[in-house]
Amino acid sequence: MHIHPIYDKMLNRSERQKALHQKSLVLWFTGLSGSGKSTIAVALERELFSQGYVAQVLDGDNIRHGINSNLGFSLEDRYENIRRIAEIAKLYLESGIIAICSFISPTREIRKMARDIIGDKDFFEVYIDTPLEVCEQRDVKGLYKKARAGEIKGFTGIDSPYEVPKLADLTIMTANQTLEDSVREVKEFTKNIIKGY
Ligand code: ADX
Repeated sequence: MHIHPIYDKMLNRSERQKALHQKSLVLWFTGLSGSGKSTIAVALERELFSQGYVAQVLDGDNIRHGINSNLGFSLEDRYENIRRIAEIAKLYLESGIIAICSFISPTREIRKMARDIIGDKDFFEVYIDTPLEVCEQRDVKGLYKKARAGEIKGFTGIDSPYEVPKLADLTIMTANQTLEDSVREVKEFTKNIIKGY
């Protein structure tokens, strides 16, 4: 039987990128809870949008409450959480959109899996480097306090591991700079990659 593939009839990534006047890529934010990942991601998304780029943030709020609502925080569940998110980010990538993924993604193995799914040339690991002491002091969601009190078990940085990236494409040290500085750094990094497309 002769099979007629539909792929050559489908709009492809480069056609979509041309229409959107941008190159798509995945910015993968990793860092502790409370490190500022999502705050930077959301501000970056808005900033890129105001300059004519189409970007989409994926983070715990829109993923763990929806498609991944059946997952918890064991290392196994985190692995599955990230695997699904990487597959979703890949769909955005194919749509010509800049995907900004903001997840703790605590181990090198987990981040490598995401990189492998998305593809090395489109995956940019951004380490939001905020010391545990600072995250704990901020304790925006009050979760560190609960983790210290033993009310939450397996909390990243307390009794569940966070492995500092060795392969980060960009490191943002938030402790001594403003949100605007952090956003500007990631934005310049992103625009530099897109420039040559
Ligand atoms: S990941 O490890 O699977 O990448 P993800 O980024 O989706 O984690 O979710 C992290 C968020 O879930 C934290 O910012 C925090 O608000 C919440 N959370 C709840 N329980 C935990 C836990 N045990 N460890 C870390 N974060 C937790």
